[in-house]
Order: sequence, then C-alpha cells, then structure tokens
Amino acid sequence: MSIDWMAHARQGRVVEGGETGGVRVEIPGEGTVEARPSPALIERGIRPEPGDTVLLRTMDDGNVQVVRRHRFEPGREEPLLVPAVDPDVEYLCVPGEHPWLHPHKPLMYDWYDDWDRDLPTWRRLAKESGGPILELARGTGRVIFELARTGHEVTGVDFSRAMLDRAAEKLLGEPNEARQRVELIHGDMATWSDTRTFPLAFIACNSLHYMNSPTNTDSNEQRRRAIRTLFAHVAPGGLGVLSNIAPVANPPRRQVEPAPYLVFCQAGVNPNTNRWTVEYTSLWSDGDTGQAYDGPWRFVEDLEDGTRRTIEFAEPPESPEEIRLPDRPLPLTRAETLALMTEAGFRDIEVRSPKDLSPASEDERVVVFLGRR
Ligand SMILES: C[S@@+](CC[C@H](N)C(=O)[O-])C[C@H]1O[C@@H](n2cnc3c(N)ncnc32)[C@H](O)[C@@H]1O
Repeated sequence: MSIDWMAHARQGRVVEGGETGGVRVEIPGEGTVEARPSPALIERGIRPEPGDTVLLRTMDDGNVQVVRRHRFEPGREEPLLVPAVDPDVEYLCVPGEHPWLHPHKPLMYDWYDDWDRDLPTWRRLAKESGGPILELARGTGRVIFELARTGHEVTGVDFSRAMLDRAAEKLLGEPNEARQRVELIHGDMATWSDTRTFPLAFIACNSLHYMNSPTNTDSNEQRRRAIRTLFAHVAPGGLGVLSNIAPVANPPRRQVEPAPYLVFCQAGVNPNTNRWTVEYTSLWSDGDTGQAYDGPWRFVEDLEDGTRRTIEFAEPPESPEEIRLPDRPLPLTRAETLALMTEAGFRDIEVRSPKDLSPASEDERVVVFLGRR
C-alpha cells in the first residue's frame, strides 16, 4: 500500500486553543483551520497547545485532525509521536528501499524544521572560515540556506532526489540574494567528487550515521568513504567538520539494538521472514539518538498476499536474536571517528561541544569534530 502523504498531511502551528479541546492551526500559505486531536492523541493524553507545531490530516468526512505534535524546548525533548494506530501512516518506507530515499521523507524531515539549535555553531564556523562552504548530506537545506542568508556561498550535496526537489522548492522562498549563493547537487557522499575545494566542508546533524540501509551491509565502509570525500573537498589549511552522536563508548547493546536510529520511520528486518518492515512503536526517544527505550515493540509488515502482520513484544527484546535488525551500525565512538578522520588525512583534530565549541566533556554524546587539511 502506498500512502499519498502530500494529499493527506499538512503541517501548521497552533495559534489558539479551543475550549472543547479543538485548536486553530495556521498553515503557511493557506490561512487557519479548526482541528481536533486524533483519537490516538487523546488516548495518550496529548493536547496540542498554542505554539506547537502539528501535523494535520483531513478525514474523509472533511474534519481535520491533529495527528502529531512536536514541541521542542531546550533540554527537554517531547516523545516523538507516531500514530501507530493510524493505518494510513504506517508505511513511510517500502520494502527494500533506503528510508532516506523515500519520496515522502523530506516532508517528514521538514516536520522537524524547528530543530535549529545547531545553527549558531554553523554560523560561527562559516564566519570564521569565510567560504565558499560545502555541506555533504544537506537534506532540504536547513543549514546551508541559513548560511546563504548570512552571506556565504554554499554548495549542498545529497543523494536523495526527493530531498533535492524539496530543497529546490524551498529555495524559491529564500530572499533573492541568498538564492544566488546556493548550489544544490544530487550525489552520494560516499562517491561524489568535484574538482573544487572549500575552506569549510561539513557533515551535520548525524548524517554520517544515516548511511545505513537494509541493503548496505558495510556501513562502516560507507562512513569511511564519506569522511574521505569530506577531506578531499577541504581546501589546504581549511576545516572539515563532522557533527555527530559520538559517545566515548557505545551504549549497552540492548538500548540500541531494538530501535534503528532512523528517526521518523523506525524500520527493521523481521527475523522470521527476513523482510524489511516498518516499526512503529518507538514512542519515546532519547532525543539525541532517536533510539527508543520504551513502549511496546511492534513490527508491522505487508505480506505478499496483501494482508498485514504485526508482531508484538510486550518488552523491548532482550537480545539481538529476538529481533535481528539490519546491519545497522552503532554510532561511531569518538575514538572510531578520530581514527577515520586521521586515516582520511585530517590533522589537529579537536572534539568540541556543539553548544559553544568549547572542548567537549566526556558525557556529551553529540559532539563536533574539527579537523584541518
Ligand atoms: C539527518 S538528515 C540531515 C540533513 C541536513 N544536513 C540537516 O542538518 O538538516 C540526513 C541526510 O543525509 C542524507 N544522506 C544519507 N545518506 C547519504 C549519502 N550516502 N549521500 C548523501 N546524502 C545522504 C539523507 O538523504 C538526508 O537528507
């Protein structure tokens, strides 16, 4: 089954709470609509409030429902709300496809567009380096558009055609001068190459860790290649930067193993059928990794005869034998990342805090690696 997300889903911001639990939502370019929380949200006691970003769906009877709410407050991440009970929203990935390449992924990604706490760091690094600037895995342009607005020439590479289309669409809404400074390229950061080099080149927002896929059995090799690509495009004396979850040591396997860190569509291979399936139950995320610790564990899959099957575990599986997910990498540890950067040729590598670029402490899991060429 394929879902036409564009036809069903719209994103907006709650501008007014209604007395009877309904809300008024402002949709960019459309005006405001009345909406009510979906039964699934009500069941979980979730009440959208003014200021919340929400995802809306128009039901067959014409009523509009809030099916997700996202609220970010520094230091406190709300659970990611996945309407597991809504059959229309179950399949964001199709079997065998890399989730990041799914045509609906950009919509899901921009859903979290208000996630901007890393922008001051990129602005500062951009200012210090001057430019032009290269971002590998640029997504829909969240970071490079900001840098273009502040006067920098930017080039962004991403392997998803849908991300490219969405970025191009968003670019049309950028101020004219900023638009002139942006170059969007379709390419895989494991293999992409260009004759140009850049005073600043970076991979932001854990993109290095998203190089996993059900068919990619050697994601460490992919990551090694991406870091080499990064190095190859840093100008001599310039800076290559990675911003990643990079724990000092990997967390215990149990925390990581059941939940892939595909943030919006949790997915895995059903061990019984060896088929790629979408998993929905990661209602809670630790915010940094998107890895889930709580909630029921459920795998849903489309069978060839057109029916669906659900496998549920009351508890997160104890061992990888219970649910074997694809060869999904753990985040690279700091030492592993440093080793790969060194191997690629970077020198004077430093591990900094994403908050203010001061030296990172041991307990910071998301860190920024800066290396010179
Ligand atoms: C978490 S998003 C980050 C997007 C953007 N950098 C940002 O910070 O908003 C990860 C991005 O990595 C891209 N990506 C994953 N594997 C890639 C690859 N091998 N080559 C290029 N892009 C890739 C995905 O398409 C997605 O846009």
